[in-house]
Amino acid sequence: MPGYRVAVIGATGAVGREVLAILEARRFPAATVRAVASPRSAGRSVAGRPVEVLSPEVFEGVDLAIFDTPDEVAQEWVPVAAARGVLVIDNSAAFRAAPDVPLVIPEVNAHALRHIPRRIVANPNCTTATIAVPLSALHRAAGLRRVIACSYQSVSGAGQRGVEQLWAELREVASAGRPLGAPRGGAFAHPIAMNVIPAIGSLRGAHTSEEVKMGAELRKMLEAPDLLVGATCVRVPTLTAHGVAVHAEFATPLPAARARELLRAAAGVEVVDDPAAGRYPTPLLAAGRDPCYVGRIRDDGAGTLAFFAVADNLRKGAALNAVQIAETLVRDGLVRAATAD
Ligand SMILES: NC(=O)c1ccc[n+]([C@@H]2O[C@H](COP(=O)([O-])OP(=O)(O)OC[C@H]3O[C@@H](n4cnc5c(N)ncnc54)[C@H](OP(=O)(O)O)[C@@H]3O)[C@@H](O)[C@H]2O)c1
Repeated sequence: MPGYRVAVIGATGAVGREVLAILEARRFPAATVRAVASPRSAGRSVAGRPVEVLSPEVFEGVDLAIFDTPDEVAQEWVPVAAARGVLVIDNSAAFRAAPDVPLVIPEVNAHALRHIPRRIVANPNCTTATIAVPLSALHRAAGLRRVIACSYQSVSGAGQRGVEQLWAELREVASAGRPLGAPRGGAFAHPIAMNVIPAIGSLRGAHTSEEVKMGAELRKMLEAPDLLVGATCVRVPTLTAHGVAVHAEFATPLPAARARELLRAAAGVEVVDDPAAGRYPTPLLAAGRDPCYVGRIRDDGAGTLAFFAVADNLRKGAALNAVQIAETLVRDGLVRAATAD
């Protein structure tokens, strides 16, 4: 088996740390793994690796780079890596909408990896990934037409500083015995402890950028340009894993019992659906685990199929999916190892 020379850009962040851990846990055939971050992290180490500061030179001799940086950093540096012959998997939103960049979840559209004209593969938004995996199985069987999705998104979706803000606020709330009047950090515009915030990302007219991404990314990955998607994205004070309440309408009627069967057979999905016994997906169930969990599968009484899905935003929503893309590229011979040993 050849060894691939891998660089993780943004290795000190919430997603980058998971990428390093998952590459190791899944025994990705890496000859070397470089950990790269900003000048702020110079001199530090992460997962036992010295942190290198991002520069054109860090891509020398690298076969595969996984970018876990803010959009603007990816926008500038992903093309630098690709121009040096590196195959890039990007976790940011910078290239997801580009028509010549495949946006991939292996269980949904691995075939899109056969054409990577810019040497860039994009990883979808974490909330979109949570529902794209189950919805794709239902779409293949019954033709998805319309989706209404309301999310319950954890603070780690806003990166390391989101996690730090929740912990700081929880400590203060616990000692004061009452909610806070102002946020303790810059990740969220309002206190997140003992609160929910119905706005994620920047405003795009009446919608938020997170809501717009959900529609655009679902349409692209499901290859369903006419799919109607209405989303409301809400930040909640959980640490890890995003929940999404989904109502879906199909071209062919899809009773809940049939949907449950399809979901039980779907790759990457685990059905947890016995509400009478208190069994349904929760963020604490999904955190640290790989599947997209689905439960509360039912006809919603308004003519559509409803379910609740939860997945770990740092894993299937980001790092795990990126590593699974890398594994698919290796399996299908789509990434060249410069070092064969
Ligand atoms: N969190 C999620 O659930 C999630 C899910 C899907 C996709 N994403 C996307 O994944 C990306 C990373 O998110 P995150 O949550 O891991 O963020 P994060 O915790 O804030 O980490 C950001 C990482 O980017 C690095 N970075 C920032 N500016 C840089 C620069 N100028 N040069 C080099 N490195 C720089 C940081 O390095 P320093 O430590 O040196 O500052 C850090 O390693 C974002 O695009 C995000 O939208 C996140």
